[in-house]
Amino acid sequence: MISLKAELERINKETLHKLDQLKTMEELQDLKVKVMGKKGSLTALLKQMGRLSPEERPIMGQMVNEVRAKFEEAWEAKAKQLDQLALSARLEEEKIDITLPGIRLPKGNQHPLSMVIEEIEDIFLGMGFTIAEGPEIETDYYNFEALNLPKDHPARDMQDTFFITEDILLRTQTSPVQVRTMEKMKPELPVKIIAPGKVFRHDDDATHSPMFHQVEGLLVDRGIRMSDLKGILLYFSRQMFGESREIRLRPSFFPFTEPSAEVDVSCMLCGGEGCRLCKNTGWIEILGSGMVHPRVLEMGGYNPQEVTGFAFGMGVERIAMLKYGIEDMRLLFDNDIRFLKQF
Ligand code: DAH
Repeated sequence: MISLKAELERINKETLHKLDQLKTMEELQDLKVKVMGKKGSLTALLKQMGRLSPEERPIMGQMVNEVRAKFEEAWEAKAKQLDQLALSARLEEEKIDITLPGIRLPKGNQHPLSMVIEEIEDIFLGMGFTIAEGPEIETDYYNFEALNLPKDHPARDMQDTFFITEDILLRTQTSPVQVRTMEKMKPELPVKIIAPGKVFRHDDDATHSPMFHQVEGLLVDRGIRMSDLKGILLYFSRQMFGESREIRLRPSFFPFTEPSAEVDVSCMLCGGEGCRLCKNTGWIEILGSGMVHPRVLEMGGYNPQEVTGFAFGMGVERIAMLKYGIEDMRLLFDNDIRFLKQF
């Protein structure tokens, strides 16, 4: 009995001491097994109680129970403490300082070409035009024939065409949308649309790109005159390039208009005095235009005896270059972030 008591005392002291020292949940679980498991120290002690007399056994049993209860209590407390420590360590790790400045994400902005297209659209929408669209892969018929450019017409050479087959091509201009729109709308009046979009031609240098953008315009109604064209283009030019701009119409040739005119705007850099931009002429060409050719009205399903119309077509890159003073068209397609950031 004496030796068992001493042994119990030793186990009690030792386990409580170990419990105090240990630092992890694993160690804690380990200790429980070492004390109360099948081969644990307390378990081993209980097994030796058979050697005691019947009077001694309950006394010893009670003492063992007390030691076990104390150990269990201390064990639970330690477990709680370790849990707390782990939790606060995790909280510490996850702590965020909400007063720190945030990470600024780089902000994108619109491409200058998109900006210019939107601006052109806004100006014409304000005058009651609607927006029409047509396919970029076009037939020879709409790109040329319906625009009064029959096969073998010499004016087809004005535009270097990417052909896909003999009859299918990448449109060289947005003008085919004129006839497509008239076909769809006839006999409704007025036909009053602009058609922005990509066009394709076989050249590539500082002022030409194989893909570029145009905005086409078409107004067909009873009694449309050249002065209507002039008024609308003057209004457009002043909205786009400034209130003090003037325009002039120069006689020109396009197969789908008669008469045809190229439109110049007074130089936005020098105001007409003459400078490098306008090559000392005071004027800058911005678009082609004219009165819709009777043949084209017919192809669109309208009677040229009853209606007249005007049309125009402008290059968006050219307008953007003039508006922002961009000297090389390729800058608009290189997507160099240092360039794009300036808009
Ligand atoms: N389609 C012509 C071109 O690409 C531009 C043009 C000129 C369009 C006169 C028109 C117009 O509608 O009337 O060069």
